[in-house]
Amino acid sequence: MIHFEQVTKAYGGNPAVLRCLNFQVRPGEFVSLIGRSGCGKSTTLSLINRLIEPTSGTIRVDGQDIATTNPVALRRRIGFVFQGIGLFPHLTIAENIGITPRLLGWPAVEIKTRVRELLDLVRLPPTCESRLPRELSGGEQQRIGLARALAARPRIMLMDEPFGALDPLVRDELAADYSVIHRQLRLTTVLVTHDMTEALLLSNKIIVQHAGGIVQIGTPQKLLSAPADEVVAALIESPRRRIGQLTRLLEQGSML
Ligand SMILES: Nc1ncnc2c1ncn2[C@@H]1O[C@H](COP(=O)(O)OP(=O)(O)OP(=O)(O)O)[C@@H](O)[C@H]1O
Ligand SMILES: [Mg+2]
Repeated sequence: MIHFEQVTKAYGGNPAVLRCLNFQVRPGEFVSLIGRSGCGKSTTLSLINRLIEPTSGTIRVDGQDIATTNPVALRRRIGFVFQGIGLFPHLTIAENIGITPRLLGWPAVEIKTRVRELLDLVRLPPTCESRLPRELSGGEQQRIGLARALAARPRIMLMDEPFGALDPLVRDELAADYSVIHRQLRLTTVLVTHDMTEALLLSNKIIVQHAGGIVQIGTPQKLLSAPADEVVAALIESPRRRIGQLTRLLEQGSML
């Protein structure tokens, strides 16, 4: 369980980056944070593993106020895939995936077995192991990033635009694979995305952020049937339009 109570964040020149956030993520939930650029999504996510500290308020993970935890220990039990935090270029794929287990002092044979298991989970061949990150495609590197985040068996996964820079097919494939992994491993996932279609398809709860606040928390069905305001309505307009366009196209196709 992740619990935000009255959480605020201010930076020197920007006093209202986050204004009083209250929300919960229950065990096993897949929650998406969505909203316009600059609305505070990445800041919210980074508060959960203490990459950023709140200005006020309390964040609990599994009941414990994280301000009282050791941030390094906290980060080792939470997996995170952030765009821009890439793989270590001079380490092999096996070394990249095994980095957290190694820091946690796992025996070498266990790490080796775990690396094999994870490559299988993210659907890459075991022959990748000895390669360097630059010898893989962007999509394959994102899969390795995912494997690395899962290596020490975290219960919670934080993902900031993890599928962002990929071509649409690879992106859909990886998102679908992650959705299966989330269920199989009974993870709790918080995903930051710009893409409402992705949020609607992947998550069971969507948190819509706007200008440092939350404008709606609800299931995909709820957002589609009862958007709380014009901000949410604008965000669901594009997936709605695409559904309409595709339906018309299919109808035309069936008439040929
Ligand atoms: N270190 C910082 N110092 C000052 N302001 C910051 C800092 N980090 C973020 N901000 C500001 O806080 C606000 C929220 O940033 P954040 O990165 O959380 O947005 P975001 O919703 O993730 O945006 P995007 O979709 O573009 O990634 C922005 O206005 C940003 O300029
Ligand atoms: Mg961001």
